[in-house]
Amino acid sequence: MSTLLLLPGDGIGPEVTAQSRRILDALALPGLEITEGAFGGASIDSHGVPLTDAVLDRALSSTAVLMGAVGGPKWADTAYDKRPEAGLLKLREAMAVYANLRPARCFAALASASTLKPEVIEGIDILFVRELVGGVYFGQPRGIETLPNGERRGFNTQSYTTHEIRRVATTAFELARARGGKVCSVEKANVMESGVLWREEVQKLRDESYADVALTHMYADNCAMQLVKAPKQFDIILTDNLFGDLLSDLAAMSTGSLGMLPSAALGEKCRPGLYEPIHGSAPDIAGQGVANPCASILSLAMALRHSLGAPEAADRLEAAVEAALDSGARTADLGGRLSTREMGDAILARLA
Ligand code: NAD
Ligand code: IPM
Ligand code: MN
Repeated sequence: MSTLLLLPGDGIGPEVTAQSRRILDALALPGLEITEGAFGGASIDSHGVPLTDAVLDRALSSTAVLMGAVGGPKWADTAYDKRPEAGLLKLREAMAVYANLRPARCFAALASASTLKPEVIEGIDILFVRELVGGVYFGQPRGIETLPNGERRGFNTQSYTTHEIRRVATTAFELARARGGKVCSVEKANVMESGVLWREEVQKLRDESYADVALTHMYADNCAMQLVKAPKQFDIILTDNLFGDLLSDLAAMSTGSLGMLPSAALGEKCRPGLYEPIHGSAPDIAGQGVANPCASILSLAMALRHSLGAPEAADRLEAAVEAALDSGARTADLGGRLSTREMGDAILARLA
């Protein structure tokens, strides 16, 4: 018996998650119980907080959690620590999902949907391994203070321990063995001590235990440029929480649209995984029924593979997405006209 908790969230979150739900119903996996919970702004509206203890408990006792997206202008003036996004950070931290896998793959049919030239992006297959529960997102001290001269000062702390670096690097090296065998570790060791430690520890771990993996190091600013210039040079990009956030959105355009990128956040093997599209709640298109559901559906495929013990169903689902794209199915972000639901229909129809 396994349980999947759906947290649709805000904006386009519920719209795209509804298509994943239809696919789950069609797959009818034996022994899988599916439940839903309020999260983010939706939970603020109904319970006053973005993540209730009850929903957090359910997440921690599930086999996997599939999240939609959180946040939006409605809650933009809410106190920083009570915002929908704070609920997401609390969930990630409590689930201890330190390794965020963000695969940026360009489906052949979408090579012309990107703003980059098709020959630059055709065939790219990059896996970001983003550290997810540390770094400047969580470092202390943080805050906004008023100085004696009346000026205000905002501050955050970037911090990584040896343990935090080594555990996420281990995930990257293990995954590299099952793929192209290359890891590019990205930081700014030229200006940040946390980057110096990151580089040293990743290199040490590779030399001790993963000599079969080819490891290179790159500064984050150069990595951003290389992702646009020659993205095919990358296999796995291992990086911290903030650089991973930025660089994965950047790489999303190599796949045609931000609406294509799924993610899996994993911790220790026995614990539930958290699955979510990398995009947000897209307030500019929310409520119109036109969002691309592929990132959510591909996140579901990752949940099937990594948490729910259904790798064949994951393969079938990814093949169905690819077949739908091959047949020309496109939402607006990919230059087409299908609604969110029609894109779901196109994928369902190919899920033999
Ligand atoms: P966004 O990712 O929501 O949107 C950026 C752009 O991409 C928009 O033009 C949007 O229309 C487009 N887009 C995103 N997903 C799409 C999809 N599936 N189909 C078609 N187009 C899509 O980023 P933003 O506008 O900077 O943020 C909006 C809100 O979402 C903010 O409150 C932010 O904090 C939140 N956010 C949440 C998550 C999350 O829940 N994991 C991730 C990113 C941003
Ligand atoms: C993401 C988002 C989140 C992040 C926000 C909403 C907290 O941008 O998942 O990429 O910065 O991690
Ligand atoms: Mn992001």
